[in-house]
Amino acid sequence: MNIDIPVNLPKTAIIGASGFLGSAFLSSYRQIYPDTTGTARDHSGENVLYLDLLDPDITQMRLSETGHKEALILSAISKIDKCETEKELSREINVQGTLELARQLVNEGIKPVFFSSDYVFDGITGNYTDDSQTNPITEYGRQKAEVESKFEHITKGNYLVVRLSKVFSLKKGDGSLLDEIAGTLASGGIVRAAFDQIFCPTLISDVIGAVACLQAKGTTGIVNVCSPEAWSRYDIAVALAEKMGIGPGRINRISLDEVGFKSKRPKNTSMVPKRLLSEAGTTFTSLTECIEQTAISWSVT
Ligand SMILES: NC(=O)c1ccc[n+]([C@@H]2O[C@H](COP(=O)([O-])OP(=O)(O)OC[C@H]3O[C@@H](n4cnc5c(N)ncnc54)[C@H](OP(=O)(O)O)[C@@H]3O)[C@@H](O)[C@H]2O)c1
Repeated sequence: MNIDIPVNLPKTAIIGASGFLGSAFLSSYRQIYPDTTGTARDHSGENVLYLDLLDPDITQMRLSETGHKEALILSAISKIDKCETEKELSREINVQGTLELARQLVNEGIKPVFFSSDYVFDGITGNYTDDSQTNPITEYGRQKAEVESKFEHITKGNYLVVRLSKVFSLKKGDGSLLDEIAGTLASGGIVRAAFDQIFCPTLISDVIGAVACLQAKGTTGIVNVCSPEAWSRYDIAVALAEKMGIGPGRINRISLDEVGFKSKRPKNTSMVPKRLLSEAGTTFTSLTECIEQTAISWSVT
C-alpha cells in the first residue's frame, strides 16, 4: 500500500495491530517510525507486545520512554452480531477495557485515538455530521457511543475519535466489501444486496492518510472519517457486476429487513465528513474507480 504519511506524524502506538485496520496502520506508520510499537493478543511480531482489553496493562510498552506520543485504539470486538449475542463480554472489552486503556494512556501522557463507527446513529435520516446526535439501535453501536461520550472527560479534551463507515481494501481475496461481492459473482453465485442499506464505503489507504493527517494537525474531538460518497449495497453490487461483464440479473435486490441479522440494523448510516474536508482537505478515491480495479483483478485468473 503506497500512502503519503506526513513526516510530522506524532509517533503512534497501534493497539490491535493484528486486525484488518491495525495491521495496515502498523506497516504504514513504520514508514516514518520503524520502531513503532504494536499490540496483539498473539504477540509474535517484531515490536508487537501482548495486550488484552479484558485486563489492559500498558506498563511493559514503555510508550513515553520510547518517544510515543499517541496511540490508536483499534482493538475491539468488531462483529456486530457477536456484540448482540455476547453483550457482557463485548461490553467488558469494548467499553470497560477500552476506557481503562484510555485512562492508562492519558496517565502516561499519550493522546488516545479511538475508532468508532457510523453505527452510533439510528440510520433513519442519514447524512450525519460530526456533531449529529447519536442514537444507536444495536449493542455494538451503543458500546461505541458510550465510549465516545466518556472520552472528553477521561482525556480532559486531549483525544481524537475517528468515526468510520465501512472500510475496504483492493486486495484480492481479503473478503472486504468489494472483494466479497466480486468473489461470489466470479464463482457463479447470487449476491443478495439491500437497496435500503446506505453507507459511505471508504478505501483503507484513504482512511490511513486521513487519520495521519488529522494527527499531524493535532486535531481533537470527534471526526467523521469516510468518503463523501453515499452508496446503497445494491447499487454497489450492480455496478460491480456490470464492470465484471455479468449484468444485474445475479444481484438479488432485497431490503435490509430480510437479511436475518440477530438484531435490527440501522439502514442509512451515511455520514458527511464535514470537519475532515474543511480541516484536513483530504481527497478520496472514487468508489467507481475502486469498483473498476476490483473487476479487473477478478477478471485476471
Ligand atoms: N473495518 C471497518 O469497516 C470498521 C468500520 C467501523 C468501525 N471500525 C472499528 O475500527 C476498529 C478496527 O476494526 P477492524 O476492522 O480492524 O477490526 P478487526 O479486524 O476485527 O480487528 C480487531 C482487533 O481487535 C483485537 N481484539 C479483539 N479482542 C481483543 C481483546 N480482548 N483484547 C485486545 N485486543 C482484542 C483483535 O486482536 P486478536 O487478533 O487478538 O483477536 C484485532 O487486532 C474496531 O474498533 C472497529 O469496531 C471498523
